[in-house]
Amino acid sequence: MSEQIYGESKQLGQQLGVDDFLADGFDLRRQLAEFLKLSPEELEQRLPRSTEHLAALHPGAFDPQRAEVFYEQNVGDAHLLELAAWHLNSADYIADTLRLQQSFAKGELLDFGGGIGSHALAAAALPTVKQVWYVDLNPHNRAFVEWRAQQLGLAAKLATGRDLDDPKLPTRFDTIVCLDVLEHLPDPAGQLEVFATRLKENGTALMNWYFFQGFKGEYPFHFDDPQLVERFFLTLQRHFLEVFHPWLITTRAYRLMPKGFIDRLE
Ligand SMILES: C[S@@+](CC[C@H](N)C(=O)[O-])C[C@H]1O[C@@H](n2cnc3c(N)ncnc32)[C@H](O)[C@@H]1O
Repeated sequence: MSEQIYGESKQLGQQLGVDDFLADGFDLRRQLAEFLKLSPEELEQRLPRSTEHLAALHPGAFDPQRAEVFYEQNVGDAHLLELAAWHLNSADYIADTLRLQQSFAKGELLDFGGGIGSHALAAAALPTVKQVWYVDLNPHNRAFVEWRAQQLGLAAKLATGRDLDDPKLPTRFDTIVCLDVLEHLPDPAGQLEVFATRLKENGTALMNWYFFQGFKGEYPFHFDDPQLVERFFLTLQRHFLEVFHPWLITTRAYRLMPKGFIDRLE
């Protein structure tokens, strides 16, 4: 998208549709190069090696005690490049997650583990969304997304925070978006419990997960312990009821399990 059109969206704040994402990831290459102070050529050299580079940072077998430290301190700006390469190379897949988000997003929206902000920015541009709350442990990711929001004229509708204990966050959200994050958490079931207390009764949670380290071990930082995964699914089924949507079979929509619903089934 041209600078001029982004200039227009600065005033309108409504121009960030799925087609805009498919065109250039919401101006991602230019913004990333500028933010990281790289030339366009340097950026193109670093993007293809970014997954390998992130995997190489990983200290080895995942120590649950160190997962937060890894994302907050060790990763630095490596995740920005890895996520950018992924969103640019798998744009059709990300576009479907944006279409899904567009179908459900409303009110106070939490993007938990928001990464480079594609979903948070797109949500902030939706008229159905009152405010986006982007939460991510990584300070580089937060700074990049705050800067992107300013560039795109969306700063008034997008606030960032490190974690859900941040007092400026609402107690409950109308929409929770948590995409490609749960497999990075040492206690994904515990995170679901938290989401269940922070989702409004008529709200929707959009979630996916990939509890797998990759066929070539390219995601050593993903948790895959069978007991952890089993606890995750038990918790999911206890608290959430799936809502059908036609966009993706890997990313699911949920509402809170109606009270007493499971008891009535038994
Ligand atoms: C694979 S990225 C996904 C980013 C984004 N949701 C997307 O779909 O592109 C995982 C993100 O989760 C963040 N993260 C990891 N652990 C977290 C935690 N405990 N709390 C908040 N964010 C976390 C990482 O910093 C990273 O940005």
